[in-house]
Amino acid sequence: MKLKLNPDMTRGPREVVGKFASAVRREIDTRKARHREGPSEMRKGPPEALLGLRRFVANPRRFGGFVSGPALATAITAEIDPAAGPVLELGPGTGVFTRALIARGVAERDLILVEADPMLAARLQAAFPQALVLARKAGSVTADMLGDRRPAAIVSGLPLLNFPDREVECIVATALGFCTADAALYQFTYGPKCPVSEGIMARLGLCAQRTARVWRNVPPASVYRITIARD
Ligand SMILES: C[S@@+](CC[C@H](N)C(=O)[O-])C[C@H]1O[C@@H](n2cnc3c(N)ncnc32)[C@H](O)[C@@H]1O
Repeated sequence: MKLKLNPDMTRGPREVVGKFASAVRREIDTRKARHREGPSEMRKGPPEALLGLRRFVANPRRFGGFVSGPALATAITAEIDPAAGPVLELGPGTGVFTRALIARGVAERDLILVEADPMLAARLQAAFPQALVLARKAGSVTADMLGDRRPAAIVSGLPLLNFPDREVECIVATALGFCTADAALYQFTYGPKCPVSEGIMARLGLCAQRTARVWRNVPPASVYRITIARD
């Protein structure tokens, strides 16, 4: 039997390290270009990777880790239909996914951004003045804060693996509770499986499907689509 080897496994360690280093260099160049071309309010502050690092140092558990790269931003927003209705974004942080949503055609006024870090929330409001920005924890949002908006999708950058189960359950139930019945929640993770536990999925009657594996992110990540299970 002939084994099919991943091309990376047939290369020497130097080549693999070299490949990784050039991927990181490309990523830095893309981020620098994005910072130069981003909304003027975003350009006033430090580049997003540096800002992300500062917020991570300020609160590692809440910020979660790395600022996501463009490949992950594209993957997590790939199934969003801009015509379907407002989009709820949880934990937008430096606005990486927010910009990808706008690039996909979602109108700024259709964005509801829920960010617990007041400094990042103020920055998002300045950069996306037409969006509804709620500077609070995702689990504490109530329906009246959304006015007459009924989100058709949720994109989450929350580091769910750092949260206790009861907080994850509260966030997922609250967010999907605001949405149209066929809405999906898109969540990324660096872990090997969906970051919402099977127990929570069963209790809330949800199902999850992986929609993408993003090797070009640092670190590599997966995207899950979480919806109400139909039987
Ligand atoms: C890893 S950052 C993600 C930012 C961006 N989406 C990305 O992928 O680069 C997570 C963000 O979630 C925010 N956050 C953490 N817990 C939250 C909560 N309970 N409700 C709303 N935002 C929260 C943090 O302040 C941080 O900005």
